[in-house]
Amino acid sequence: MLIANGRGRLLTKKMGRNFALVSLAALALGAASQRESAQPVEAGMIADGDDWPSWGRNGLETHYSPLDQIDAGNVSDLKLAWHFDLEPGYTATVPLEAEGKVFITTQHSHLRAFDAASGKLLWEYDGGTTQRRSDPLALSWGNKGIAYWDHKVFLDTTDGYVVALDAATGKEVWKVQDFPDAAPRNANGAPRVFDGKVIVGFGGADITPARGFVTAYDAETGKRAWRFYTVPGDPKQPPIDKAEAVERATWHDWIKPDGSRRGGGGTAWNAFSYDKELNLIYLGVGNGFPYNQTLRSPGGGDNLFLASIVAVNADTGEYVWHYQVTPGEQWDSTATMDMTLATLKIDGKDRKVLMQAPKNGFFYVIDRTNGKLISAEKIAKVTWASGIDMKTGRPIENPGIRYAGKPGLFELWPGPSGAHSWPPQAYSPLTGLVYIPVMENGALIGDGQKGGSASEMGAGMGATLVPEVDLPGGHRSFLKAWNPVSQQEAWKVELPGDWPGGVLASAGNLVFQGRMDGNLVAYNAKTGQVVWHYKTESPIVGAPISYRVGGRQYVTVITGNGGNGAGITSPGNAAYRTDYRLPRRVLTFAIGGADSIAPFTMPPLEIPADPDFKPDAARAQKGAMLFGGNACLVCHGWNAVGGGAAPDLRYSPMIVDGDAFKQVVHNGALVPNGMPKFAQISDDDLDTIRFYLRTRSKQAPAEWAALQAKLAAEPGK
Ligand code: HEC
Repeated sequence: MLIANGRGRLLTKKMGRNFALVSLAALALGAASQRESAQPVEAGMIADGDDWPSWGRNGLETHYSPLDQIDAGNVSDLKLAWHFDLEPGYTATVPLEAEGKVFITTQHSHLRAFDAASGKLLWEYDGGTTQRRSDPLALSWGNKGIAYWDHKVFLDTTDGYVVALDAATGKEVWKVQDFPDAAPRNANGAPRVFDGKVIVGFGGADITPARGFVTAYDAETGKRAWRFYTVPGDPKQPPIDKAEAVERATWHDWIKPDGSRRGGGGTAWNAFSYDKELNLIYLGVGNGFPYNQTLRSPGGGDNLFLASIVAVNADTGEYVWHYQVTPGEQWDSTATMDMTLATLKIDGKDRKVLMQAPKNGFFYVIDRTNGKLISAEKIAKVTWASGIDMKTGRPIENPGIRYAGKPGLFELWPGPSGAHSWPPQAYSPLTGLVYIPVMENGALIGDGQKGGSASEMGAGMGATLVPEVDLPGGHRSFLKAWNPVSQQEAWKVELPGDWPGGVLASAGNLVFQGRMDGNLVAYNAKTGQVVWHYKTESPIVGAPISYRVGGRQYVTVITGNGGNGAGITSPGNAAYRTDYRLPRRVLTFAIGGADSIAPFTMPPLEIPADPDFKPDAARAQKGAMLFGGNACLVCHGWNAVGGGAAPDLRYSPMIVDGDAFKQVVHNGALVPNGMPKFAQISDDDLDTIRFYLRTRSKQAPAEWAALQAKLAAEPGK
């Protein structure tokens, strides 16, 4: 019944997955025979300006293409050249181009290779996560990107397998396990390859004190080259290296008497940059766990290397320097955002800089030869600090901002989604500007032991966090062009929704960015004037890329999910219908392209008939807590408002069918499609969660009408 009742896609998708394992080797043989023995190397990448072989194009992480065939003058002739339809699921990812092929990954490590000029599918590879794992952590926050080096494509599956594939055939060359199966970790950022080393990290510090580390593997063999631990291990043992000695001095009692971890985190899941000249790799390190610092490190301390940028020797992984953006962080204040390397003329001198806009609301320019701060200014509303002390490089914290031990909830700007999150910024050496996707979102936070709140989230964090709250000036997003020398805004554009897409800058004086309202937009890089847009019929979160094949410049972007990171900021985007049922595609544009996509009409939102429903506020409240506590909201959205990562359950027929609900939630019927199995939830609790969803379903039509009215009152956003 489950499968027949509109569930046909499960079967079709299963077939697709099997097919994925059969690589279309025959098609790719031609390409393999054309291998060049010597390829140009640029900033540690095998690439010339034509290719886009890495997340940020090369180790400098500029998200900048030096190609200028498409420019502000002819961009009006930019048309769709080819497209490819993707299955539902997490597609907030950044593609690659190398060897004339476009490589992409979608949720749960499903790779595809296309002929970059024609869009013809060359091979597929299924990373196999859904066959190995059915837990929410392994299935959350899908793969965001992949890497390329020397005829190989590299993948880090969400459950921690690092895999090298032959770029021509999609066949496995080697595969290693980065962390054990049982570890509460999850890999979802793009791996990087810098001069023959594959760099991978992972996340997980929002739910456990997992000890963060970053590992480098030999790209040829998969042999481990080095591993760098971002937080200290067992204090009874001597420090394993210089880094751990530095870390230990800044933590207190992080290991319990029984040897288990009280505090940890520092997972570096997204940002790595490479400085070939200085032979340094920079690691962007994440938040601590528990959030509440007094539980994590009783006695305080800076807790290195949480919320830090760490420079390590590229060959050995040895610690060289660090800069901590948020000492003793307690606000999910990660420094895992892209770090852009450039040379800037500051006070008449050429300075080698690293530029980052971490979550905490400041934009930092750091001397990358020594880690010293050059400048830092606010790019959004910030309430936790008034500024950065230029003498010490440390933030000037606002009094009273540390919530531990205090009753009540405190307003916090930026909230845990950050003033900037993982959608990459871009830097154009031509304009000298950094293009940053900026969010203005406040939250409420308090000590979790001093009384909870209605929408408490994240058991074990030691903090009560309400990330989705309507504060004046909140739920807004911008594309800001920032001058890193003067630390001033050059221009800004307000965007629809509150989750801005990643950015691409190009030598054609253009900046490309996808938007929540289903448009890919090109701006004049100097002025911010909109010079081109294309209706993509679906929101865009991943960053576009640009490359040249056969003498022609292309722009490729992946559309679709999810309106947000995974589902948590969904109410801010709800008005834009970032629905799970929206189409997801690979779209490739070129001057004079002749392809098109059909307009998409969203099926009507119908709330399931539920004649027996009787309101019960207390029961609904209990269900809301279970919905949060079991991580349903991570994918299905805050307040059960779907953001696109998973179906909007307020409209699901299953919430009025207890058997079907149990089949899916408890028995794992939809694991192959990315819906985890929750075998531990009792029948009673299942019914209570379902009751909450039925309640939310009844409220949905009025909320939808209010959102549409709000949208109509904000034209031009
Ligand atoms: C890791 C992300 C994730 C988490 C966490 C998650 N889900 Fe899902 N869920 C999905 C996805 C993806 C689908 C759609 C699967 C498909 O396409 O068939 C789904 C589908 C469902 C459906 C079927 C809806 C329909 O009409 O097809 C129900 C019911 C559901 N989830 C309930 C829950 C509940 C309850 C929880 C928490 C106990 C939960 N989910 C947690 C990702 C998730």
